[in-house]
Amino acid sequence: MDRIRIVGGQRLNGTIPISGAKNATLPLMIASLLTEDTLILENVPRLADVIQLQRILGNHGVDVMIAGKRPGDDPNSGRTLHISAKHIVDTTAPYDLVSKMRASFWVVAPLLARMGEAKVSMPGGCAIGTRPVDLLIMALEKLGAEIEIEGGYVIARARHGLRGGEIVFPKVTVGGTHTALMAAALAKGTTVIENAAREPEIGDVADCLNKMGAKITGAGTSRIEVEGVARLHGARHSVLPDRIETGTYAMAVAMTGGDVLLQNARPELLQSALDVLAQSGVTITPTNEGIRVARNGAGLNPVDVTTAPFPGFPTDLQAQLMALMTLAKGTSRITETIFENRFMHVQELARLGAHIQLNGETATIEGVERLKGAPVMATDLRASVSLVIAGLAAEGETMVNRVYHLDRGFERVEDKLARCGAAIERISA
Ligand code: UD1
Repeated sequence: MDRIRIVGGQRLNGTIPISGAKNATLPLMIASLLTEDTLILENVPRLADVIQLQRILGNHGVDVMIAGKRPGDDPNSGRTLHISAKHIVDTTAPYDLVSKMRASFWVVAPLLARMGEAKVSMPGGCAIGTRPVDLLIMALEKLGAEIEIEGGYVIARARHGLRGGEIVFPKVTVGGTHTALMAAALAKGTTVIENAAREPEIGDVADCLNKMGAKITGAGTSRIEVEGVARLHGARHSVLPDRIETGTYAMAVAMTGGDVLLQNARPELLQSALDVLAQSGVTITPTNEGIRVARNGAGLNPVDVTTAPFPGFPTDLQAQLMALMTLAKGTSRITETIFENRFMHVQELARLGAHIQLNGETATIEGVERLKGAPVMATDLRASVSLVIAGLAAEGETMVNRVYHLDRGFERVEDKLARCGAAIERISA
């Protein structure tokens, strides 16, 4: 398995292009199952999760064509995918495919809505606590689906099609909201989704579904209304920029010092994280081209942050912020409210010399003068990138082992950082 070797201590200066969002790309690809026509997605990031989902969709009979680059094309621009689910040949998503990526479970909604049945293995994905699917199942039941759970599979049926209904989520769930939206788009009648997730990726998927002929209003607020239509058609849609990648590189610059333009980044997608960085003493300047992040000389102030659904501070930036706060001048507190057990980076950061104490869902981080490089191991997607950030500031060599998780969600991380002056390289196994 590949490893990443970092020699810390270099400041970051230059430009980092921000890729299309992984968390929008995956549900957008899944939405292709809702139509016989071709869905064209632009600005798709090159990620292992995208390839894995391509395999899963292929098993249902979906053709995914990746447009080649033409001479003169910007090497940083994302890929264009032509996705055609003209003939769905199989409505079963088997364990060996779904267990590798949690979001692939969401195929249950479009398969059920279009074909009247779906059999999907319970999901896998990052090891960050139990991640149940009870609320996704509840949403489908509210739209008239009959659900059975058998041998690790969710079997969903709607012999006479889905019908609109009222879905009230007791807890904000991104996957639940995506599932409800996709199922409701082809249901008969109107669906109201209450306490919907407001993450920007929900809005992006709703925009694309509307281009395909769906009638969705209120996406981006906590009340979404969907008037079902009989069929959806093809469309062309460009994936919005990745706010988690943006926040991650912003924290990397905050950690090492320097001055970097995060090209194509949009501040409104991560205002809460930018506010936290500003509080800790980082200069954030929105520009026409993206967001400029700079820290020159001054130390970092400690912060007190609690993760929350959008527009709160994202759980997907919690590990990266913790890496940053290991070098703050004082004591920070970070409370994780979305996922239990999402603290696997703590013991690895400790290997680099961080002082972190865990008490239930709160981590107390006492800033230290310096981190020292060490071999570390990546345990989940966001945790692994937090180790890269820490390594960039640590004295000497940090070897991040098992970077498989990193490749699932971050495009060319070593390349993007090296171009800004980091001493970082991939060592292929
Ligand atoms: C998505 C994101 C992930 C992010 C998370 C929270 C994608 C591909 N992944 O994951 O990167 O960290 O949102 O912002 O977009 N829950 C239940 N029952 C359910 C579903 C969820 O109890 O049926 C709970 C979860 O355990 C968790 C909370 O709800 O505590 C939020 O999870 P959810 O928003 O559904 O996360 P994902 O959609 O899996």
